[in-house]
Amino acid sequence: MASPSDRYATLNQRLADIAQSGRLRSLSPLTMTGPTTGIRSGQAVTVFCSNDYLGLSWHPDVVAAWQGRGAGSARLISGDRPAHHALEEALTAHYGRPATLLSSGYHANLALLTTLLQRGDRVASDALNHASIIDGIRLSRADKVILPHSTPGDIPADTTLAVTEGLFSMDGDIPTLSDWQGSHWLMVDEAHAFGVLGPGGQGAAAAQGIEPDFIVGTFGKAIGAYGSFVVGPPSLRPLLISAGRAFIFTTGLPEPAAAAALAGLRCANDGLREKLTENVVRFRSGLSALGLTALGDAHIVPVVLGAETMAVARSLLSAGYYAAGIRPPTVAPGAERIRFTLSAAHTAAQIDGLLDALNDAC
Ligand SMILES: Cc1ncc(COP(=O)(O)O)c(C=O)c1O
Repeated sequence: MASPSDRYATLNQRLADIAQSGRLRSLSPLTMTGPTTGIRSGQAVTVFCSNDYLGLSWHPDVVAAWQGRGAGSARLISGDRPAHHALEEALTAHYGRPATLLSSGYHANLALLTTLLQRGDRVASDALNHASIIDGIRLSRADKVILPHSTPGDIPADTTLAVTEGLFSMDGDIPTLSDWQGSHWLMVDEAHAFGVLGPGGQGAAAAQGIEPDFIVGTFGKAIGAYGSFVVGPPSLRPLLISAGRAFIFTTGLPEPAAAAALAGLRCANDGLREKLTENVVRFRSGLSALGLTALGDAHIVPVVLGAETMAVARSLLSAGYYAAGIRPPTVAPGAERIRFTLSAAHTAAQIDGLLDALNDAC
């Protein structure tokens, strides 16, 4: 039997290895004082790395909606609440197809992929798909083929499901979704596009006039709340409820989160989306004027700075602008970047201030 002193030796060794490779991460609380401002380590900062793209987490209707209790149980036992059904009905009306709530977006990808796929199926997945898609595929036991980012080429004929994102979280680009269509099913994770892109904020697929078989959306980003949903054909909802392990064996979404998500959905309007676009144009053209190249097409604005990334992020922070540096393993070595995210709630002065700070830092 391991002695008390070395009982956790393997964990300590793993931590030491992570630290040795420069990948040790730590938490640092950020007290938000407004939709784009906060206090971090005693310093006032303007935040350019939140996914609250429409500033809705501070909208008075969303703030007021955080009311109710924890569900206390899985929905199939005693945790099913009117707030869940109200939100599902609103989403079903939004998409014209049945929607089902899950906890986080991470959870939704696990639930959907493990319910749709079985051993022997083949899934074609974009090389830059989010960790939750990768983990869902692993759990499903389906065979996977990884396709080059955004250029899938010929998708193998025996593919059951192709899966991609509507707006990529690290590269900020929007794929041409018709390239992913075929005789197989198409699943699009709209985590970063839902609420922002497409008619009524339905996402990147709707913006391109495409109806994927399955959509994942989250309320933790543009909607300013918490929770997630999946949309699909009429068989999907009963299948999730009867056979979706990640739906069945977990506590229902807390009522306050469901109510806040419904309020956020109602508050996400074209005016906010236009304001966000205005801010994106201002920031992206300011970057070009500084001679900095940004990746992507929309409100996620990654600027690849390689080895300079963390030094520039620190310099921005000392000037009062908080934008996270993204390092391996999240991105490939050499592709380190600062991932700026814009919100409709940013002011022109905040964006211009960030550009000035970037000019000094670079
Ligand atoms: C593409 C994608 N899908 C899913 C998620 C997970 O969503 P949530 O934060 O609601 O768990 C994220 C989170 O960043 C994401 O980027």
